[in-house]
Amino acid sequence: MIQPDNLRFTRLPLANGAGAIPALGFGTLIPDPIATKNATKAALEAGFRALDTAERYRTEKEVGEAMTEVFKAGKIKREEVFVATKLWNTNHRPERVKPAFEVSLKKLQLDYLDLYLIHTPFAFQPGDVQDPRDVSGNVIYDRGVTLLDTWRAMEELVREGKCKAIGLSDIGLEKLKEIFEAATIKPAVVHVESHPYLPEWELLDYCRKNGIVFQAFAALGHSSEPNLLADPVITAIAHRVGKTPAQVALAWGIQRGTALLTTTKTPSRMAENFDVSTLPEDAMREINEGIQSRIRFNAVVETGVPGFIPREK
Ligand SMILES: NC(=O)c1ccc[n+]([C@@H]2O[C@H](COP(=O)([O-])OP(=O)(O)OC[C@H]3O[C@@H](n4cnc5c(N)ncnc54)[C@H](OP(=O)(O)O)[C@@H]3O)[C@@H](O)[C@H]2O)c1
Repeated sequence: MIQPDNLRFTRLPLANGAGAIPALGFGTLIPDPIATKNATKAALEAGFRALDTAERYRTEKEVGEAMTEVFKAGKIKREEVFVATKLWNTNHRPERVKPAFEVSLKKLQLDYLDLYLIHTPFAFQPGDVQDPRDVSGNVIYDRGVTLLDTWRAMEELVREGKCKAIGLSDIGLEKLKEIFEAATIKPAVVHVESHPYLPEWELLDYCRKNGIVFQAFAALGHSSEPNLLADPVITAIAHRVGKTPAQVALAWGIQRGTALLTTTKTPSRMAENFDVSTLPEDAMREINEGIQSRIRFNAVVETGVPGFIPREK
């Protein structure tokens, strides 16, 4: 059995931005608006102090309402919560970045953002249709803008003081290096799929060496098959240390130095997912060396089309 400790309160300083990000974060990619609002409130009440949303999730309004109600109740202050949202693919043209940012801020009912991420490195045809397709059903990409053009417009938001840090999501190592080397304001956070089936050691190593916080999404494997939480290495450790498989996967992520995001609509799992404690070294070694499966559940990194969001009609 392991004893409760302060692992759940770990915060990672942003070397390339202001402040520090709580390692254990709550994601709001939940299709139903009422469930999103309820889950966001429950997450804050359970102790989560980092929230992740995105223009593309269409959950910013509900996350904003939930935060506003919790802040008004007086138990948690705005400054205690690290809020991140993301610029969608159809807004990569530099002149569209600030207006998109302002809309997100308004929906979230905030006057500053802790982190703004470029959701994917793929620019789509600019406009109001989030998933633009041609008559054959193929994505319409925008070849008239580079990721660096978009990054420069993101840097401007930091200079204007309404955003404390900027970063990249769904990015591979080569593209990250390009932006990192050319950037005036360096990426503070890289947000990518990662869990014991996709540890991304090389990317994590580059982030560590360059003061970038690596934030893992789908930290529990997104309830996808094969089910990470049923992996025999994870379940055996969980049994031995007196924790659940989810708590083992989350602790592993924090202990190897990453921030991470998990999501649940289920109230009992909210408390469970916040109740993480440090795993013994041998358990860390067993996960790192004993799990050989390598599985990416979300192909967004290859095309910019989000794998976990139902396609727009
Ligand atoms: N940038 C990107 O492209 C991108 C892509 C995907 C996600 N994200 C972000 O990352 C966040 C987290 O990703 P994710 O939703 O894939 O996270 P996840 O935590 O790996 O998966 C969520 C799933 O796990 C289940 N779950 C949660 N806690 C559990 C527990 N203790 N035991 C068993 N099952 C449990 C949830 O079920 P219930 O809800 O039914 O409890 C839900 O089906 C998202 O909300 C979003 O903010 C970003």
